[in-house]
Amino acid sequence: MKKAIIIGATSGIGKGLAKLLADNNYKIGLTGRRVELLNELKNENPNFYIKSFDINDTNVVGQKLDELTTELGGLDLLIISSGIGDINENLDFEIEKRTIDTNVLGFTCVADWTFNYLEKQKSGHLVAISSIGGLRGSRQAPAYNATKAYQINYLEGLRQKAKKLNTSIFVTDIRPGLVDTEMAKGEGLFWVMPVEKTVRQIYTYVTQRWRLIATILKRIPRPIYDKM
Ligand SMILES: NC(=O)c1ccc[n+]([C@@H]2O[C@H](COP(=O)([O-])OP(=O)(O)OC[C@H]3O[C@@H](n4cnc5c(N)ncnc54)[C@H](OP(=O)(O)O)[C@@H]3O)[C@@H](O)[C@H]2O)c1
Repeated sequence: MKKAIIIGATSGIGKGLAKLLADNNYKIGLTGRRVELLNELKNENPNFYIKSFDINDTNVVGQKLDELTTELGGLDLLIISSGIGDINENLDFEIEKRTIDTNVLGFTCVADWTFNYLEKQKSGHLVAISSIGGLRGSRQAPAYNATKAYQINYLEGLRQKAKKLNTSIFVTDIRPGLVDTEMAKGEGLFWVMPVEKTVRQIYTYVTQRWRLIATILKRIPRPIYDKM
């Protein structure tokens, strides 16, 4: 059984991905701050392992992820689906700060722990859900779009680092448009995608990469493979 952790699995895209991975024979660690929602999910599936923590509490993130990985018995895939985004036309600094804390500091703490873990085991996949919003600034939600631009750039850095290491570590940045979750706010939203459709597309994209690797691996002649 493959092992995955989803950061931000209590609702929306993360929750949808957790259910889809479970249907595809994954053992999954689910995280988020809302303990009652994690408990509800745990009761739905014996292959769900739960750990409640706030990614902004960067002093505990590493310890919580170590514990969850030990409970799962390893880690092949970690998906960062945590994030917040609020409309903030009045530039309330508290909203901007909260957004930066979660989408930049917490995000970086989780991404770094994951990359270092994968580097040690020389394989695995880090996936993060950034946003198409990261491509341009927004007058309605300046911090949200700016933090998503940070994520896109940071992930590119990690992808480059993985390539240089010449190991089987993959870093994937998913940039959805609008998805029908608690986060999608505002009026006049257009082309809003249902969660189920979004997570199916993410799953196909993420696992196709592994399908390709599996196909290549299967075709490597035994004498060469034994030397790898
Ligand atoms: N919905 C969209 O239109 C859309 C479009 C593009 C990109 N995205 C991105 O997709 C990702 C998932 O969003 P969503 O739409 O699925 O929204 P969502 O339903 O609000 O889910 C966000 C998840 O993040 C977790 N989270 C938030 N702050 C956290 C913190 N400090 N520590 C730990 N977990 C935290 C939440 O769990 P708790 O509250 O339990 O902690 C929740 O599980 C986000 O990064 C978002 O920016 C969304």
